[in-house]
This record gives sequence, C-alpha cells and structure tokens, in this order.
Amino acid sequence: MSRNMRWAIVLCLALIILSIVIACAPAPTPAPTAAPPTAAPKPVARGKLEMFSWWTAGGEADGLNAMYDIYKKTYPTVDIVNATVAGGAGTNAKAVLATRLSGGDPPDSFQLHAGLEVESYAPDKYLQPLDALYTSEGLDKAFPKDLLTLLKYQDHYWGMPVNIHRANVLWYNKKIFTDNNLQPPKTWDEFYKVADTLKAKNIVPLVIGTKEGWEAGHTFETVLIASLGADGYRGLWTGKTQWTDPKVTQALETYKKVMTYVNTDHSALTWDAAAQYLVDGKGAMHIMGDWTDGWFTSKKFTGYGWAPAPGTTGVFDALSDSFAATKGAKNQDNLMNWLKLAGSKAGQEAFNPKKGSICARTDCDPKLFNEYLQSAMKDWSSNAIVPSVAHGAAAVEKWATVYKDILNSFATKGDVAAAQKSLQQVCVDNKMCK
Ligand code: GAL
Repeated sequence: MSRNMRWAIVLCLALIILSIVIACAPAPTPAPTAAPPTAAPKPVARGKLEMFSWWTAGGEADGLNAMYDIYKKTYPTVDIVNATVAGGAGTNAKAVLATRLSGGDPPDSFQLHAGLEVESYAPDKYLQPLDALYTSEGLDKAFPKDLLTLLKYQDHYWGMPVNIHRANVLWYNKKIFTDNNLQPPKTWDEFYKVADTLKAKNIVPLVIGTKEGWEAGHTFETVLIASLGADGYRGLWTGKTQWTDPKVTQALETYKKVMTYVNTDHSALTWDAAAQYLVDGKGAMHIMGDWTDGWFTSKKFTGYGWAPAPGTTGVFDALSDSFAATKGAKNQDNLMNWLKLAGSKAGQEAFNPKKGSICARTDCDPKLFNEYLQSAMKDWSSNAIVPSVAHGAAAVEKWATVYKDILNSFATKGDVAAAQKSLQQVCVDNKMCK
C-alpha cells in the first residue's frame, strides 16, 4: 500500500469517527430567550369608597345594600363608607352635600337626580364628566334615548343612572276598598265620592306626611298633570304654559279640597310614617312615588293595590336616581368600579326589585320584579313621560325649592290666589315666564 493510500484511509476513518461523534452528541441547548409574557396581576383594590345618599328608609336602604353586597364580593379589601343623611327627596342631604363640596371634602360618589338638579352642584367645578365611562361600558346603547337626553347637561353626562321611579302612583289598602265595595278613583271627582264614603266610616281617606317640606309639592305635581295633561304640564317648565293659566287655578282648588280629606297629623309625619297608616289599616290611600312599593315590601306588607294618581292614567311622571363622581374624589379607582357596577345589568337587577323602581337599562329580566314593578315597566314603555319637579327632573333646583315651599305653605293656608301668584313669579324669576 502506497504512503498516499494509507493517508487516505486514515483520513476517511477520522471523518467517519467525527460524523459518529457529531450524530451522537446531545442537541445543542438553545440560547436563552426572554421568559414568555404573563398577564400582569391586577392591582388589588384597597382603601375606601365613600357613597353619599339619603337612602335610610326600608326598601331604599335594602336596594343600596344589595349593590354594596356585590361590590364587597368583587372588591373584598375595599371598605365602603355608607354616608347617609336621612330625609325623603334629599331635603336634608342636599344641604350637607353642598357644604362638603364647597369645603373641599367631597364624598367619592353621591346620589343625584337625573335632569336639571345637576346645575346646583356646579358640575364644571365639582364633578367629573362620565362620557368616557359611558362609551367604554357601552351605556349609550343600554339606556333609553329619552333618559340619555335627560342626563345630558351642558353636553356631558354627570351621573350614572341606576333606576327609573314613577311619582304619580295612588297606593291603597285593598282590604279597606273591598270591605267598602270601592274601586280606586280614576278622576278627582271619583276621589271625592270614595273619600266621602270612607270619611263617614271614620277611615282617613288620604294619608300624607308634610314634615319634610317636599311632599305637598310632590302630590300637587300629580294634580297639575291631571288638570293640564302631559303637554300642558311639560309646558309649565319651558314657558309654553303660563302659571296664570285657569287650569293651574283649577289644580290649586282641587288640591285645597283634597287636603280636607287628609290626616290631621300630616305636618308631623314623613312619607314613610304616612304610609304606615295603610299598613295599619287606618288610612285608605296615599299618593307617593314607587319607593313606597320597596318600603311596603321591606315591611312584608302585601295588602296594597295601586293605580295612577287620579286623572293621570296614561302619563308616567318620571324621575331617575343616578350617582355622580366628584372632582378630587379620594378613591378614584374604587369610585369608577362603583359607577360601573351601578350601570351594569347585575347591579341594576340586584338594586331595583328592592328599591321599588325599574331599571334604567332596557335589558333587565322582568321576572325578577314583582307585579307592581312589571306594570310600571309596561307603562314606562307606553305612557306619555313627564318630568317630576319635586325630584329634580323638571327644573333647576332653585326653582324646584321655591315651588316646594309655596306648596308646603299652601297645604296649610289654602290661599289659591296667593299661591298662584307666587308660582308665576318664580317662573318669571327663572326666566321661563314673562
Ligand atoms: C326621591 C328619590 C327616591 C326616594 C325618594 C324618597 O327623591 O329619588 O329614590 O329615595 O326620594 O326618599
């Protein structure tokens, strides 16, 4: 074998050994790469959430608690501060709130009626617009158009609506009506007949509490609707109907007569204390908003019936409770979570059956609601809707306040001409009447 040949064989063997070594060698370890991205853990919500309202009575407090329960389950490490100032329609709460806002000590959120009431809180200065939240939560599609219009003030949304209430409801004690073979009155003339029968039997025909100064104005707005109709009543707040109109005189005369059928202790009673007359079977009828349905439910009282306040069939006198976000809120993230819950289907389905109201949203399940509330849902979608003045929807707060004061004093004095003159004057002062 030549020398060259031997070298060729050595070279071949070396190559064969090398390829075997390479083939058997462990696979090379890939160069280290960055760890796969994992979702950043959500920061745990902590701290407080201060929510301010006047919901202390049965039904209203239960509704609020039902929403707090959901919030606590979702954010167990947040402390809810339930700041309440008792007094129907916010009579006492609104003054306390105004002082807190102007004093730089705002709660995170507070109860605000949808409509012109927001003007009194100087929203530019003290509130956060909620437009972005409406968009991110798809709320401009979840609420009916009319409600969205009512909620918009100076081109922004300032409150998250949680419900719709009806103000013009006549509640009655079913047993008293059956025992006396009576039907709920559809007109004020029918009311007088029913009331005379009840009076003769020593039953208080109509109960009212006027202790807090707004209840007479509440009842009277339903009488105004009966006298003027939906359009005429709406016009009172836009200047289309003058308060000098003979139909306003007629409404005042009616109201004066109605007050001769009420309990004598009315100035010492709140709305819920007055409703107790029906529970005790001592009073037959009560005109009040449907938070009374929530209150009856909280009392486990089932012996009540309902009808539109006399003369208002086909009209839904509406208001809506919403929650506002304050500028400078101490717990911004917790506040936003609260508002999201308030606007959600789950939040509204928990709150409203207890509160005695229907959802502001259009997609709540009617089966969760009692018979009265199901009837309110139907009426809300078919009746003429008018805004309540006693509950912030129809007029700015300074007008609504004077309106309520005039009616409160009229409830005891009964001076028709003086009341009508003052009602016209406050319309002039607010630049809606000439
Ligand atoms: C209304 C409020 C209702 C209910 C009622 C009686 O102004 O919108 O939710 O609370 O007062 O307090």
